[in-house]
Amino acid sequence: MTEKDDRNMFSEEQPQPFLPPKDFKENALIKDDKPYVEAEKDSLGFWAKKAESLQWINKWEQVLDDSNPPYFKWFVNGKLNVSANCLDRHVENGLADKEAIIFEGEKGDSVILTYRELLAEVSKFCNVLQGLGVSRGDTVTIWMPMIPEAVVAMLACTRIGAVHSVVFGGFSPDALKDRILDSKSKLLVTADGANRKGKVLPMKGLAEEALEDCPSIEKVVVVERAARDYELKDGRDFRWTDLMEDADENFSPAEMDAEDPLFILYSSGTTGKPKGILHTTAGYLVGVNTTHRYVFDHRKADIYWCTADIGWITGHSYIVYGPLSNGSTVFMYEGTPDYPGRNRFWELIEKYKVTVFYTAPTAIRSFMRWGTQFPEGHDLSSLRLLGSVGEPINPEAWLWYHEHIGKNRCPIVDTWWQTETGMIMLTPLPGVTPLKPGSVTNPFPGIEADVVDDRGEPTEPGQRGFLVIKSPWPAMLRTLYEDHERYEHTYWKQYPGIYFTGDGAWKDSDGYLWIMGRVDDVLNVSGHRIGTMEVESALVDHKSVAEAAVIGKVHEIKGHSITAFVTLKEGVDGNEELLNELKSHVGKKIGAIARPEEIFFTLELPKTRSGKIMRRLLRDIAEQRDLGDVTTLMDPQVVAAIKDGYTEK
Ligand code: WT7
Repeated sequence: MTEKDDRNMFSEEQPQPFLPPKDFKENALIKDDKPYVEAEKDSLGFWAKKAESLQWINKWEQVLDDSNPPYFKWFVNGKLNVSANCLDRHVENGLADKEAIIFEGEKGDSVILTYRELLAEVSKFCNVLQGLGVSRGDTVTIWMPMIPEAVVAMLACTRIGAVHSVVFGGFSPDALKDRILDSKSKLLVTADGANRKGKVLPMKGLAEEALEDCPSIEKVVVVERAARDYELKDGRDFRWTDLMEDADENFSPAEMDAEDPLFILYSSGTTGKPKGILHTTAGYLVGVNTTHRYVFDHRKADIYWCTADIGWITGHSYIVYGPLSNGSTVFMYEGTPDYPGRNRFWELIEKYKVTVFYTAPTAIRSFMRWGTQFPEGHDLSSLRLLGSVGEPINPEAWLWYHEHIGKNRCPIVDTWWQTETGMIMLTPLPGVTPLKPGSVTNPFPGIEADVVDDRGEPTEPGQRGFLVIKSPWPAMLRTLYEDHERYEHTYWKQYPGIYFTGDGAWKDSDGYLWIMGRVDDVLNVSGHRIGTMEVESALVDHKSVAEAAVIGKVHEIKGHSITAFVTLKEGVDGNEELLNELKSHVGKKIGAIARPEEIFFTLELPKTRSGKIMRRLLRDIAEQRDLGDVTTLMDPQVVAAIKDGYTEK
């Protein structure tokens, strides 16, 4: 492994682990290692038992069909409906008047939907979708702000048997277009605008830019959110409220096969083209239902808040499908932690008495920098459990979170997983696992993970290696949408028969796992995955750019920030104006999250003799490290020139 990651502790000197607090443990859903023992003995039996807690139309005939790897089938021939599991059965089982979603908007407006009300909304939207020609197997793209209608649209798709493709609202029209085209969506659900820190992002207008080249889209449904002027195209565009007004509140859930596609979610990979990660019905639901219940120690009275956007897998699995299938009350917030003030999240926790709070290290590091006065001004005593996800959490941030948010009372679950895994894979169980700040601890029961070297042999404690998953798990991706070859190549070729995660990791002498971040050309910026090639393609798309190399530079808050080295076409002047234009160009091609923080113009890029750009060298330059081994470099002078240019800045 050649990658370095300075953010991680790499020492065997460890402070005492944090044990689950006594009263937490006493009331915990899981208090001992029974699930680990059970799953160790018979993992398929373990998952079968977990699957029993869902509602099935027809029970499965086989738990796992692994006869055709890497194409796995779970709960073979089982029939069920996801929305029925998230809604109807709770309404039938006495939770009809329980709050399913408590929503607060950026402006302070709020909406509460009970399970009964959410079921009615979802059923109405199913009738709307059907009326607009959507049927089982069709794909629907959802490009929306963080509002309850987004959840309604997702659940309605699952009820009809349509496949949803949610695109993060922060992606640009170009990125939206690519995802619509790839998935051949028939219908788009969007909003007039999104509230963003007091301003309005004109979503419908932007969507229109995407739709110019999206022939597959037949109809567009627009939620009015931000009272924004926008145009409705006759016969194609419809207002959500107009359609919902007369829609019938009953719609019977489609009988879906366990392996019917549930959703596509695009995620960045190592090429310029995002991967359409495909999840199916039963295994995914069993996986997220079980992990949500165990990892977040689900209790009836919880007010559970996951701060992710529904446009990411965290939102899919732990705002929508995990918690709602467990009958939780989900708190949902439209805005950001710093608007109108840096106390916004703490104010919300106090107001709604949030009990479980799940966020990302990048947010925690921002909270740290803003200072303790913001959380200190609020009563956070309702909190009982904290979570972290998206990137490695540095021990300093962990300890700050534990002390200043959890007031030394709340366990922290640091959960490792991926869009591909669908469900949490490595995590503590809060009533059981002693915690070490910065470690994701152990695999979830029934998950077989390991750290291996280049040859696939397990590493010794303290030795860096690659994180792999050695046997199938229920919520695993089934393939990449219409690209089986890339699926096999990306995940299953490195070590035959073993799933390659793309992450570096090490085990300590207690067997605890420590994640070191990506080892491929994928960046993690503020917990969001961005492919270096994707940003490079966006740069090269600009008329002045000849070549570009993008790297992630270690960043105090974001984990990584994007730095680009760009060579311009002959005769183009690399001035400040062009620099800003290139940054905006990337923003336009992908979205603001991918905008490079710094761009450097260089005459050449360092390459190996075979022509591969040596990103490691560029990273070393950007982070001002010693350059290490440069023997494979074609022209060492190039590096010296870039280095000089960089340090002059
Ligand atoms: C990548 C997956 C899973 C939801 C959010 C991101 C990194 C995720 C952790 C963690 C260290 C983590 C990995 C992984 N990652 N959680 N707890 N500790 N790293 O989903 O966009 O699919 O990214 O995020 O590098 O491979 P994603």
